[in-house]
Amino acid sequence: MLILVTGGTGYIGSHTCVELLNSGYDVVILDNLVNSERSVVDRIAQITGRRPLFYHADATDASAVDVIFSAHPIEGVIHFAGLKAVGESVEKPLTYYRNNLLSTMVVLEKCIKYGVRRFVFSSSATVYGENEVPFVETMELRPRANPYGETKAMCEKILSDAAARHPEMSVALLRYFNPVGAHESGLIGEKPRGVPNNLMPYITQVAQGILPELRVFGADYPTPDGTGIRDYIHVMDLASGHLAALEKMGPGVHIFNLGTGRGTSVLELITTFEQVNKVQIPYRIVGRRPGDVAACWADVGKAQRELGWRATRGIEEMCRDSWRFQQLSG
Ligand code: NAD
Ligand code: UFG
Repeated sequence: MLILVTGGTGYIGSHTCVELLNSGYDVVILDNLVNSERSVVDRIAQITGRRPLFYHADATDASAVDVIFSAHPIEGVIHFAGLKAVGESVEKPLTYYRNNLLSTMVVLEKCIKYGVRRFVFSSSATVYGENEVPFVETMELRPRANPYGETKAMCEKILSDAAARHPEMSVALLRYFNPVGAHESGLIGEKPRGVPNNLMPYITQVAQGILPELRVFGADYPTPDGTGIRDYIHVMDLASGHLAALEKMGPGVHIFNLGTGRGTSVLELITTFEQVNKVQIPYRIVGRRPGDVAACWADVGKAQRELGWRATRGIEEMCRDSWRFQQLSG
């Protein structure tokens, strides 16, 4: 079975390609390399012993995408391609709306044209916004007030409306919580360009001495230690969630949270990272980051019941694998 993975050289996409290839799927990657490197294809081949096909193409380019669909007997699509930096989306809203909405529509149109019935979409817990934790799939969406979050909510709507018109299609809207960690080989992982926005890559760069200290954004939240709480999920668990969705979902639209169901504070993550990896993380508490919520974690019951999937790796493994990748790559 051949799967098209858009954004397949990116962080989550590359780990999902490893899971797909290891499970016997054939893989075609489409990526414009705006936030990843071609060498990731070699790394995937090194890990799995199988080489995915790679197209350097833009998912918003309808004719380029058409060439791929016409050349290969694709049976399912996992659509990771997208821009994901919240702050940048405020600076460049049209770039975000254009890239994230158009790429989704183009790939979906080609699925419909070529009779590809399985479509898995990378959504985000950001669509829950200020709802009460834990977040449940049935909650009304309140995407955080930034263009990035809006694109995820809009893509969910576009996919749902199209699937209603094409009842033969199976669409999974996967709402990721906070992916961290790396493949245990340390060959692939998250490699942000410039100064990281997210907590774990920032911590690993502080650990390596690339950055002098971590700024903890707020210690006055209504949480036990005052710092923000998130549901960190190991990227390999997230990857296996995609396979479960591909294999188990029937026709229609299916929304799943992919998280662990457990929350960890910023200070807890720092302490665990220091203990597991035997390194110091100098940090300083500063003011809150605008737009952050106090707490965000998943109700994971639906994914467990309907996909038979659950995350198995804990915070220690996430810290260990993130650090191994940083040491090998940085
Ligand atoms: P990433 O930036 O590492 O991967 C995205 C990949 O898509 C990159 O390789 C990039 O080059 C490619 N890309 C972007 N626009 C493209 C286009 N128009 N055509 C072809 N390729 C394009 O990001 P990631 O962390 O792997 O995220 C994957 C998906 O998951 C994204 O849609 C993101 O919004 C979503 N997501 C990520 C997180 C997270 O915290 N990492 C959380 C929730 C949702
Ligand atoms: N944090 C710090 N210092 C930093 C970076 C982050 O204290 O240098 C804190 C944040 O305030 C927050 C926690 O660490 O409490 C996690 O922050 P991240 O930036 O790692 O993650 P977010 O939860 O803010 O956002 C991430 C992705 C979004 C996605 C969302 C889904 O960046 O794209 O998860 O819930 F939408």
